[in-house]
Amino acid sequence: MKALRSHVCGQINESLIGQIITVSGWAQRRRDHGGVIFIDLRDASGLLQVVVDPDAVDAFAVADTVRNEHVLQVTAKVRPRPEGTTNKDLPTGMVEVYATDIAVLNRSDPIPFQLDDDDTSEAVRLKYRYLDLRRDSMQKIFRLRSGVTKYFRDFLEAENFCDIETPILTKSTPEGARDYLVPSRVHAGEFFALPQSPQLFKQLLMVAGFERYYQIARCFRDEDLRADRQPEFTQLDVETSFMNEEEIMNMMENMIRGLFKAKLDVDLPAEFPRMTYADSIEQYGIDRPDLRIPLRLVSVTDLMKSVDFKVFSAPANSDEGRVAAMRIPGGASALTRKQIDLYTDFVGNYGARGLAYIKVNDLSMGKEGLQSPIVKNLPEDVLAQVMERVGAQNGDLVFFGADHAKVVNDSLAALRVKVGTDLGMIETKWSPMWVVDFPMFEKDEDNNRWTSLHHPFTAPKQDQVEQLATDPGNVLSRAYDMVLNGTELGGGSIRIHQTDVQKQAFTALGIDDDEAQEKFGFLLDALRYGAPPHGGIAFGIDRIVAMMSEVESIREVIAFPKTQRASCSLTAAPSGVDKNQLRDLHIRLSPAAQAAQQADTEKEGT
Ligand code: AMO
Ligand code: AMP
Repeated sequence: MKALRSHVCGQINESLIGQIITVSGWAQRRRDHGGVIFIDLRDASGLLQVVVDPDAVDAFAVADTVRNEHVLQVTAKVRPRPEGTTNKDLPTGMVEVYATDIAVLNRSDPIPFQLDDDDTSEAVRLKYRYLDLRRDSMQKIFRLRSGVTKYFRDFLEAENFCDIETPILTKSTPEGARDYLVPSRVHAGEFFALPQSPQLFKQLLMVAGFERYYQIARCFRDEDLRADRQPEFTQLDVETSFMNEEEIMNMMENMIRGLFKAKLDVDLPAEFPRMTYADSIEQYGIDRPDLRIPLRLVSVTDLMKSVDFKVFSAPANSDEGRVAAMRIPGGASALTRKQIDLYTDFVGNYGARGLAYIKVNDLSMGKEGLQSPIVKNLPEDVLAQVMERVGAQNGDLVFFGADHAKVVNDSLAALRVKVGTDLGMIETKWSPMWVVDFPMFEKDEDNNRWTSLHHPFTAPKQDQVEQLATDPGNVLSRAYDMVLNGTELGGGSIRIHQTDVQKQAFTALGIDDDEAQEKFGFLLDALRYGAPPHGGIAFGIDRIVAMMSEVESIREVIAFPKTQRASCSLTAAPSGVDKNQLRDLHIRLSPAAQAAQQADTEKEGT
């Protein structure tokens, strides 16, 4: 049988001049130049210029019928491009091929959008994802993604890690999101959960003695979607035995540094800075600070306790309140009144009830030199102390947040990034770091109980085990998160490897022995049979690839992502199923669900 091609398009260059070649691919563009037809032929390797002359009668007749995205097989002679028509940006740009024979292997209907149109809506792109993925920019992303996973595999295999698959149909693995459930046909009324991560299985693999495990693992979380969150996503999941947090962090840091060097020729810092959770919240309002931006929050809570201005003094005197300032160098002239109003609306999205500010015109003039709607409410000495503490200079602007600490932190953390970006303050392109010394637990105010900041299997600091029972709120964990430019790339910890400590952690979380046994009995059992000290980490591969590709959303780096509404517009999943299937699964839809499903189906149809 004759092969469909002798070469790939991207391979055709000056070394082949004079040769007859056969290539196959898509007609990216056909141009009719007064008698001569040019076709840009595209395959996965690149673009090639095909010239069809009317002298090649049969080929010309076929070329005349070619439309965009038809699939062609072209036999042609390689020749140099005429002077002045070469294209140095294209690997094949010094040559063209002179067609002697063209076959249309398949036709294409007119495609619903132009591949080179960068303004096509995401809805259309996702519905016709197989066309969207033909675009050069998308092909590049997926080749990078493939290179990234290969890099990780090579790195870890060289370090003696073993790739092991863990179940997809499993029991709930708590990572803080809702589970996706799968009904069991065989066990009426019972459900599998899809894994939120392989957490428990990787720990069991340490009990099993593998010592170093990794997996490129699909995880499933039913949570609110954002640009960096998908309901199913991919982790590079890693677990080790007999390594402490220092050793794990160093090894993982080396891996990420090596990745950026190998794929982007970027030199990340020789040592990623480490910051405690407490410092991160204090200075940046968030546990994943974007250190590219040189702005910081400074607490002035203590200075505001006795001022008359209630907006500041009320939170200053509340246990849960915070008053924080953020100095914007040069902000007095850089930020207009209108801009400040926009920022006030912006922080409103985070629950802030206002955004006080002071323009620093002339520090030597005391209160007179400060311009602001609030200076009249604040005593001279307090203002002086605030200015000193934030390090104000003439020409600066200082923003203030005063509220429940969470509102202040959330709003000023977001404002920090926004102002920093708007004013072009980004200093370095890549700013990786580690956040360490996280609290074990955070308070779930609504239900008045403690929840895990990471997951319930994270170990407490060695000297704080006793405190799990007496003072859980102040126990720190042995967890670490890697953050890059304000995005959490990965997170991990040393785990609890002793049954009694694990039980104490469950108790602190309000999980009693019966519930612990029912949900995690297999883990508690396993820990009793010589579980080694162990710990690990998981990186979000989608996030890493998105950042390396400099795209806004991880949807760009997932071949077939879900929409913001957690559905797939290409296949129209999720969708209703046959009554018989439901019966087999022992499921009956409520009338409300039936109505909703009906409405959804009708909407899909329009
Ligand atoms: P964690 O929950 O922090 O840790 O997840 C690890 C990393 O996975 C990525 N990630 C996501 N990416 C896309 N969409 C999502 N919905 C999503 N959720 C998380 C993030 C995150 O840093 N078992 C632990 C790891 C461990 O302790 O070893 C875990 O899953 O980049
Ligand atoms: P008011 O006294 O409400 O007019 O507010 C005076 C200034 O304080 C305005 O600039 C408001 O934007 C600002 N402001 C009001 N509430 C807060 C708050 N909770 N945090 C920070 N600034 C605030």
